[in-house]
Amino acid sequence: TPVNPRSPANMNFLPSGSCFYFCALICGLAGVEASWWYMGSLGSRVMCDNVPGLVIRQRQLCRQQPRVMQAIGAGVQDWLSECRHQFRNHRWNCNATAREHNLFGRLLLRSSREVAFVYAISSAGVVHTLARACSQGQLDSCSCDPTKRGSSRDARGSFSWGGCSDHVEHAMRFSQLFVDAKEKTERDGRALMNLHNNRAGRKAVKRFMTLECKCHGVSGSCSVRTCWLAMADFRRTGEHLRKRYDGAVQVAVNQYGTGFTAAHTHFKRPSKNDLVYFEDSPDYCIRDQDSGSVGTGGRACNRTSRGVDGCEVMCCGRGYDTSRVSRTTKCECKFHWCCAVRCRDCHQQLDVHTCKGQT
Ligand SMILES: *[C@@H]1O[C@H](CO)[C@@H](O)[C@H](O)[C@H]1NC(C)=O
Ligand SMILES: *[C@@H]1O[C@H](CO)[C@@H](O)[C@H](O)[C@H]1NC(C)=O
Repeated sequence: TPVNPRSPANMNFLPSGSCFYFCALICGLAGVEASWWYMGSLGSRVMCDNVPGLVIRQRQLCRQQPRVMQAIGAGVQDWLSECRHQFRNHRWNCNATAREHNLFGRLLLRSSREVAFVYAISSAGVVHTLARACSQGQLDSCSCDPTKRGSSRDARGSFSWGGCSDHVEHAMRFSQLFVDAKEKTERDGRALMNLHNNRAGRKAVKRFMTLECKCHGVSGSCSVRTCWLAMADFRRTGEHLRKRYDGAVQVAVNQYGTGFTAAHTHFKRPSKNDLVYFEDSPDYCIRDQDSGSVGTGGRACNRTSRGVDGCEVMCCGRGYDTSRVSRTTKCECKFHWCCAVRCRDCHQQLDVHTCKGQT
């Protein structure tokens, strides 16, 4: 490959370096902006100067807290896979490529519902990742929530704080400082939209904190309890944000440019927990670079389902191909004394349906 004479020496940190710079140039011209999401493809090689698209404030935070940045970078995979899980049966399936330095390509030029979801779950992801890293003692800058000390009460009576409470407040503060920094430098409607969805995402993590307790006392009578506040599995946040996506509110910027009004008179005004968006989504049926759609050609669909994963909806009426594949599963498992379970390999024929591509 030809070497770009302007490439810095650390080009090897980037996947397919020259291609990356090429893309940075082209996408930059087209107005697709890079974001901290790119850190996810750098692994532990996050260096504050090799992440394109960080604004000055983000670069400062990055230099001050390189370990935190590595954690955030590693966490990108977690929220991305949660996003894919939530949309696995949809035409838009949260497919992102690390090749593109903003992960989602031109999708982000739109101000659609999907983009609202991506901002919310990425910002939620940072909170979850950071709070967990703090609790596990991976970072010098934080640990368990220091305010959860002494004794307290809940509906069942008094208890004493013990163990490690996830320091979500700290994670939310840092996430806000870092994630929102970019939008804080801009003052347009899209920045308002991103900020709103970022915050909705952060709040979604805090919502699922639960008090977990250990019982002490005579024969487990639970007369004495030690408790701590723990975050729920990130799946809960993903499911919650997915519901918010379904009920997302289409908005317009108000006349002062400071907030939103509902775009349609019959829509409710958005609350702080709602996701908001400006633009209707494309149908994501066909590959269309300009709208960030990769199309549904080649996607698996369910022939009997009447839902969005059904071949009719998924393939947008283009029809589908069926191929027979064989699958091996464990079957007729028997327990042998003592102590083994032995199974046979069973071969199963299975029809797989995939959407035809556009012609
Ligand atoms: C994701 O998109 C890329 C193109 O951007 C495509 O090559 C890849 O097959 C897609 N993956 C899935 C699972 O749809
Ligand atoms: C396909 O859809 C039907 C009906 O919704 C469902 O019962 C079945 O489990 C689905 N099959 C797969 C492979 O997801």
